[in-house]
Amino acid sequence: MHTLIGNQTHEAAQLLLAGKVVAIPTETVYGLAANALDAEAVATIFEVKQRPFFDPLIVHVASLDAVYGLVTTFPEKAKALAAAYWPGPLTLVLPRKKSVPDLTTSGLETVGIRMPRHSLTLELLRQLPFPLAAPSANPFGYISPTTAQHVMDQLGGKIPYILDGGACEVGVESTIVEVKSDGEATVLRKGGLSIEDIERVIGCVKVQQTSSSAPQAPGMLASHYAPRKPFYLGDVQALLAAHAHRRVAVMRFCEAEHATAVLSAKGDLHEAARELFATMRRLDALDVELIIAELVPEEGLGRAINDRLRRAAARS
Ligand code: TXA
Ligand code: MG
Repeated sequence: MHTLIGNQTHEAAQLLLAGKVVAIPTETVYGLAANALDAEAVATIFEVKQRPFFDPLIVHVASLDAVYGLVTTFPEKAKALAAAYWPGPLTLVLPRKKSVPDLTTSGLETVGIRMPRHSLTLELLRQLPFPLAAPSANPFGYISPTTAQHVMDQLGGKIPYILDGGACEVGVESTIVEVKSDGEATVLRKGGLSIEDIERVIGCVKVQQTSSSAPQAPGMLASHYAPRKPFYLGDVQALLAAHAHRRVAVMRFCEAEHATAVLSAKGDLHEAARELFATMRRLDALDVELIIAELVPEEGLGRAINDRLRRAAARS
C-alpha cells in the first residue's frame, strides 16, 4: 500500500468514511484512527498496530454531544474535568452504551473518551458522522510517535494516509481518569495533564499503580514505550561506570555532562515531555549498544515522564 502524508482533512475524511485507518495528529501523540462504531474498521487498527485485543481503544470526539451518544451516564466530576480541560490531554473512562462495539472497549463496560486539542483533528472530526477510535500510532510496545515522519517510519506501507499536523505539543499520552457512576475517580494512567491539575478541579483522586499482571489500562503494561536497544535508568555516573567499555548513548534531563541528548537545558518539564519520545527514537537509531537515562523530578508532568522512562527500562 502507498502511504501519503498530507494536511488535507477531506482526504482523511473520505478514507475514514470508507472504513479505512488513517493516522491523525493530536496534542499528545499521533493516533491510528478509524470509525469507533464500526467493528470491522476497528479490527484493522488492531491488525496494523499488532495490538492484542485485550487492550481497549480511546474514542476521540469534537463535542460534548458526541459523548452523550457513547455513555449511559456522565458523572458530575467527569463533566467538571471535561469543562476544565477539553480539548486537552485528558481521557475520561465512563460507563458505555451498547452501541460502542465490544472490540473498541475490549468487552469492558466502560469506554475511554477524549477531545483532542489539535485544530486539524477537530476539523476532521466535525466532517465525520462518527467518533474516531485511535490508539497511539506505533507498533504495540514501541515508543509513541510525535511527528508524521515517526508514523511513516514504522507504519508506512500499512496505512493509506497520515494527516500531518506538525510535532505534538504535549508529547506524552493523555492522562486517563475513570469516573464511576457513584463519582469515585481514579487515575489509570499518568499523562499530559498533571494530577495536580486534576485535583484542583475535583479534589483528591486515587492513583492506580502499575500492574503488569492484571492491567486495568493495558498501556500500563510494565514493559511499554520501549526502545529496541537495552535501556537503563538510574544514576548516570554509576551506569557509565558499570558499562565502561560499551558504546552508550546518555539521555539527561537538564545536565549536559556526559549527555548525548538533553531533554530540556532549562529544566522545563513541559519541554522535556515534548522532546522525550523523539529523543528516545533518535538515540535508539544511533550506533550504540545501550541507552542510559535518568529520572526527572517527580512533580507535574515529571510523573508522566518518569512513568514512561520506567516502562521503557522494564525490559532491560
Ligand atoms: O493521548 C492519548 O491518549 C493517545 C492519543 C492518540 O489520543 N492515545 C493513546 O492510546 O495513548 P493508546 O491506545 O496507546 O492507550 C490508550 C490506553 C490503553 O492503555 C487502554 O488500555 C486505555 O487507554 N483504555 C482505553 N479504554 C479504556 C477503558 N474503558 N478502561 C480502562 N482503560 C482504557
Ligand atoms: Mg500507546
